[in-house]
Amino acid sequence: VFAEKGPYKHFMAKETHEQPIVLADAFARYLAPHRSEVHLPEEVDFAGCERIVMVACGTAHYACHVAKYWFESLAGIPVEIDVASEFRYREPPVGPGTLGIFVSQSGETADTLAALRYLKGRGGRSLAVVNVETSTIARESDVALPILAGPEIGVASTKAFTCQLALLACLAILAARQRGAIDGAGEAGRVEELRALPGLMATALTLEPAIAEIARDVSHARDVLFLGRGPMYPLALEGALKLKEISYIHAEGYASGELKHGPIALVDEAVPVIVLAPSDALFDKTVSNMQEVLARGGRALLVSDAAGIEAAGAGAWRTLAMPRAAPLVAPILYAVPAQLLAYHAAVFKGTDVDQPRNLAKSVTVE
Ligand code: G6P
Repeated sequence: VFAEKGPYKHFMAKETHEQPIVLADAFARYLAPHRSEVHLPEEVDFAGCERIVMVACGTAHYACHVAKYWFESLAGIPVEIDVASEFRYREPPVGPGTLGIFVSQSGETADTLAALRYLKGRGGRSLAVVNVETSTIARESDVALPILAGPEIGVASTKAFTCQLALLACLAILAARQRGAIDGAGEAGRVEELRALPGLMATALTLEPAIAEIARDVSHARDVLFLGRGPMYPLALEGALKLKEISYIHAEGYASGELKHGPIALVDEAVPVIVLAPSDALFDKTVSNMQEVLARGGRALLVSDAAGIEAAGAGAWRTLAMPRAAPLVAPILYAVPAQLLAYHAAVFKGTDVDQPRNLAKSVTVE
């Protein structure tokens, strides 16, 4: 079933729409069936872990970036993230208290594999988060966990990203439990938030016609900015990456608070600014950054939930009302508008969505 496009024009569209199903499959494996607990193999052990380093490339690196917020805030473990091509050469210190988490859809990315070998060579423990269970990175890691996304054919990663995030969220909850940072009720609450995710994803996917409308306008832009705070910051980076990969529109993702340290100089009516701001503790701050864009004649698309859109008031160029989501799952859910916006902008431009120029699905050479 995975190697056929079915009713879809592109694998990317099919894989985007598979997300509710593959996420439900992943949760069937990683959440306990009759209890509100995460359920992971016993060898996954954060007890003696002094720090985590998370290493990956491309979209998988942005999944690490989101997970850093979770491991730090839920479990209190310091997390360092790096792109594999930097980690492998910058001679980072690694000790027995270091757990390396290597995230890779293919499990064959040359730089990520080299980073894993570097860490192992210096006595670190390793955990691989992969889609391809038989891959080299899975085989060479101390522990390997599959994200269960099924084969991903489109070069631009979609369901692998959200399944990486789903598994990393489960790992962060386990780490919090093992370190006494969360009690049973706290774990149950987070687990029920995860269980709600596939349904929320399905609802978000019904927004496709509205997102396609917005994408039609965005497809005429030369430059696009994505803004987000907290775990929505890496989503801004991922949204920008998706757009540039398949539509060839120049896009940048920024932490909202950095707007006034540079990118605001680019803002005018020709540069759409996409603001990813679910109603959460950081919402007001992100919206105040959006107001700075509007005050300078910029066009902002506010992606939020109904309550957030109402609270932000009038003035945005466009709004997109997402289903309301708990803070833990919002960054996973907000991958959907990022993916669909890039997809439809690319379709309007007529680019080769599944095989974008100059890119490869798996980069097995340096
Ligand atoms: C390539 C792909 C990206 C992917 C990255 C890392 O650049 O085009 O979609 O995110 O490699 O791949 P991996 O298989 O390690 O996740």
